[in-house]
Amino acid sequence: MQRGALLFLDPALSGDGSRSCSTCHPGGASDQLFYDAGTEVPPTSAGARRTLSLRGAWQTPPYLWDGSAATVPDAIARMLRVEMRGGDPSSLDLKSLAAFVLSIPAYDNGRIQPEGEPVEPATLSARRGFAVFQQAKCAVCHPPPTYTHRFQFDIGTGGKWSVPTLRGVSQLGRLGHDGRWADLEQAMQEILAHREVELTNAEFYQLKAYVELL
Ligand code: HEC
Ligand code: HEC
Repeated sequence: MQRGALLFLDPALSGDGSRSCSTCHPGGASDQLFYDAGTEVPPTSAGARRTLSLRGAWQTPPYLWDGSAATVPDAIARMLRVEMRGGDPSSLDLKSLAAFVLSIPAYDNGRIQPEGEPVEPATLSARRGFAVFQQAKCAVCHPPPTYTHRFQFDIGTGGKWSVPTLRGVSQLGRLGHDGRWADLEQAMQEILAHREVELTNAEFYQLKAYVELL
């Protein structure tokens, strides 16, 4: 694992020495930028994919926004070939990197219990928001404690996509695989509209308060 941690920081793994894994995944998380086959592109452009955080990756197969990598080593092999513009890795490098990535702990700010209930003391809105989260069926695709799902779904964003975890989502910038949503509020509005779930204004902000707890 220590070997993997060092490789993760090593630009020599990229074909032109220009980048390491940690360039795009600082601290094992995400730089919040958008790439098309390793080239930085503006959000919402065709082919744009937001860098995924590697926190808790061990519990959220399959991998990549289109779910095309069944295992972490499969995803890393793609990273080395495409995002790093390198060649085929040695099997030892691949194993070491995978051991490191699989050791990165899940994002957990300690504010919710494993079943999704807010830890006390929580605001009244966040507690009500947990009920709205279940009523609005968010939990069908984003079940606690990972708030992600092993299948891909079409929620009106141009095809079927992996379900991103909602842990830490309020800390992020633009949302969606291609950055189509400016912020959490816009993402929630468009997802609710597509799912034809109608909430009162109060319920909407309770739901938002809950998602912000995650
Ligand atoms: C140029 C930026 C960039 C570099 C360098 C990079 N990644 Fe990524 N990584 C991404 C992007 C973008 C995605 C999402 C791509 C997609 O889904 O199509 C991603 C996805 C992943 C995933 C899948 C995560 C999930 O939950 O589905 C893993 C694992 C991963 N990267 C590991 C690595 C490792 C290990 C390295 C170094 C060998 C690396 N990455 C280098 C940008 C990068
Ligand atoms: C049918 C499955 C499904 C349901 C139900 C669902 N989602 Fe999602 N959610 C997804 C998928 C798939 C994506 C990724 C779409 C994309 O990136 O194009 C997503 C993305 C998101 C994002 C953006 C996260 C990010 O990192 O970019 C947020 C926020 C979100 N959902 C919140 C909710 C809320 C709140 C509800 C309940 C109102 C909900 N979702 C219901 C499948 C679902």
